[in-house]
Amino acid sequence: MKKAKLLSRLRGRWPGTGWAVSLEEAATVRSMKRGHRMPRATPAYSLKFRIIRKALTEEKRVSTKTSAADLVTETDHLVEDLIISELRTRFPSHRFIAEESAASGAKCVLTASPTWIIDPIDGTCNFVHRFPTVAVSIGFAVNQELEFGVIYHCTEERLYTGRCGRGAFCNGQRLRASKETDLSKALVLTEIGPKRDPATLKLFLSNMERLLHAKAHGVRVIGSSTLALCHLAAGAADAYYQFGLHCWDLAAATVIIREAGGIVMDTSGPIRTGEPERTSGGWNVPETLQH
Ligand code: IPD
Repeated sequence: MKKAKLLSRLRGRWPGTGWAVSLEEAATVRSMKRGHRMPRATPAYSLKFRIIRKALTEEKRVSTKTSAADLVTETDHLVEDLIISELRTRFPSHRFIAEESAASGAKCVLTASPTWIIDPIDGTCNFVHRFPTVAVSIGFAVNQELEFGVIYHCTEERLYTGRCGRGAFCNGQRLRASKETDLSKALVLTEIGPKRDPATLKLFLSNMERLLHAKAHGVRVIGSSTLALCHLAAGAADAYYQFGLHCWDLAAATVIIREAGGIVMDTSGPIRTGEPERTSGGWNVPETLQH
């Protein structure tokens, strides 16, 4: 369906600005040290979330990308185009890294320029199957440092925000990551990722086995890495791991987790040095896993 036609249909069917009310919180994630601001929440801004929520229950045109389990729909493209065009109008000099643009061949290079890092629908497989766990994730970096992140849970209307040095919140409530460091008392989150080759599957299953042998309380797979990371920031789980995440899966969530007192690391150690990272749950998970 043509973008203009789809948009006018959606606008017609979604009068009112109810979503904009909960999105007002986004306006509090603003005024960066260097003068960069989160765009204010407006009905136009909330349109993206309404588009996703509505499309969730409708028939979709689904294509595959890197594998038969790596899905994309016309709504992923539509939402990404809308976010980028709106931000580009407001911030013409800024750069963008976005999932579907990258899949279409756009270069994915983080420079010192102000850069928006966007996943228009995280949990596309959930979205395709009408499983109501999908999010929009937008991170913002300057000088290659993440400054703020916003993740919106489209069906539960939860807005997660994190701003460097200013804390992390969900619908106004401060987020605090778990302090649990004992894997045998931990609830662990992971995601399967889109690869289905025998070596990847073997590794995934053997890591599951290792966690269960280590007597973790439980292991959960919810189908959206960004929302799993938000649960981690909220202290609703103690650790998360995944091999093969992309920057758009991680950018916004990294700020939110750090601001909630959690740590984010790759398999060789913390992603960023500098300020000592505060301790949180999950520190001993990497030692348990193979990669
Ligand atoms: C995917 C989801 C999934 C994770 C994949 C991601 P997408 O993002 O977050 O849970 O396992 O690695 O790529 O494709 O739904 O935006």
